Amino acid sequence: MENEILKEKVQNIIQLPALPTIAVEVASLIDNPNTSVSKLTKVISADQVLTAKVLKIANSPFYGFQRKISTLDFAIMVLGFDSLKEILISVSLISAFKKKQDKYFNSKEFWEHSLATGIAARTLAKQLGYRISGESFVAGLIHDIGILVTHQYFHDDYIQIVDAVTDGKVSFQDMEETVLFATHGDIGAWLAERWNLPDQLIEAIRFHHKPSLAERNPQLTALIHFVDYLCHKLGIGALSYEKVQQYDPESLKILNISEAEMTEAFYESFGSKLREDLERTFVNII
Ligand SMILES: [Fe+2]
Ligand SMILES: [Fe+2]
Repeated sequence: MENEILKEKVQNIIQLPALPTIAVEVASLIDNPNTSVSKLTKVISADQVLTAKVLKIANSPFYGFQRKISTLDFAIMVLGFDSLKEILISVSLISAFKKKQDKYFNSKEFWEHSLATGIAARTLAKQLGYRISGESFVAGLIHDIGILVTHQYFHDDYIQIVDAVTDGKVSFQDMEETVLFATHGDIGAWLAERWNLPDQLIEAIRFHHKPSLAERNPQLTALIHFVDYLCHKLGIGALSYEKVQQYDPESLKILNISEAEMTEAFYESFGSKLREDLERTFVNII
């Protein structure tokens, strides 16, 4: 299949979910400093599924409240605007794609990897002092969305790819190129274009396996590339067929991290924080 033809096919898939409008609406409300808790409560309460998830997360042991939190406005105050935004985007995205799975695609594993990458990206962005931590989470969450699209809409090609990579002799992306003439980075980026996501987010999705090609915001792409590797290295939410065993040393340079900082102690402390953060979000969202 020619690349352009595939792009057109991806962008014209009729059943392809639109980015849920409520998530977009809530995310932009949260970014507005004049937004009040009561305004947010009003918007979120229009969606029963979202309301139930928010309450469930606010009542999870992580937040440690003795009494049951039964109102949305109190739950929003407990969670804080930033985590609320992440929760809403994740919940609406995950529910937009129906949980279609078979022996070739484990949807729980996929979303665990996506959430782990999002959380790790946000954490590292904060540690590095970047202002892009909110965007980092979303970029991490959707970086592999092209894999899901391939599984759901180009199923025969997907099976051919997964079958060919199981013996580990050929990489997932090389096989994607062979079968589709495009990678999940390209496919995810086409979807993100259709969703009108910001250009730097589209770029991070497209080049998360080739970070040196990013031009618009090399930092964001390098960040996603590196934390994708970190998740695999730490064995937290690793995708079994997308084995990321190496990182591009160029990405560390872009992020201003020296190789010497990648000590066992770094991996250990980053890993335990990530595990804890993921547990808190994951069990309640998936
Ligand atoms: Fe990937
Ligand atoms: Fe990945």
